[in-house]
Amino acid sequence: FQPKSLAGKNILVTAGPTFEAIDPVRGITNLSSGKMGFAIARAAREAGGNVTLVAGPVSLPTPRGVTRINVQSAQQMLEATVPQAQLADIFIATAAVADWRPAQASDQKIKKDGSGNTPQMSFTENPDILATVAGSERATSGALFCVGFAAESHDLLAHAQAKRIRKGVPLLVGNIGPATFGADDNALLLVDAATTVEVPRASKLELARHLIAEIARRL
Ligand code: C5P
Repeated sequence: FQPKSLAGKNILVTAGPTFEAIDPVRGITNLSSGKMGFAIARAAREAGGNVTLVAGPVSLPTPRGVTRINVQSAQQMLEATVPQAQLADIFIATAAVADWRPAQASDQKIKKDGSGNTPQMSFTENPDILATVAGSERATSGALFCVGFAAESHDLLAHAQAKRIRKGVPLLVGNIGPATFGADDNALLLVDAATTVEVPRASKLELARHLIAEIARRL
């Protein structure tokens, strides 16, 4: 009998975009498909973990055996994630969280005024879910291993190294371009304090299995 690498571990994953309301029928979102996060949740479950997936609005089936919590906004994602992180051994933040939200969502649909005037909108910064969780006592004491992702258009290595330190996480995973939103494959750059390892182009599920093995090895 070969014990599974994450047997008995609680793994928390965020995935997908967030949706920030402007009014009851409109909002701001991004092109994240959620595929990488869902693949990671599936791979973590295959490795024997108890997996909770906090998902923004995506149209993907829940991986078998995974507990899913659906959210829309960054604020809701934070509120769902923080209590779950208290129980988790591993937190993997793959969600493409909106950096900003409209400062005030209208509770009624905003109407055209007929004179060509356009609505003026101001924004508020969203909470950084990964930095919040990585700064918690459970993470800083070493009980919770946090993993961040980075999607950059240029200088991936330098940005990934800087982001790892800024977010306060032991492992940062860079998406090797070109932009991978919606694609079924990708290539990854795993950056920790000591090493940088490139995982060559493969399906998101194969990459997810590789990443889970790397995380299990570091626990
Ligand atoms: O700062 P940036 O958005 O590039 O950082 C990306 C990493 O931080 C990803 O792991 C993402 O899931 C996480 N993140 C977060 N909350 C935010 C912004 C990013 O958890 N508000």
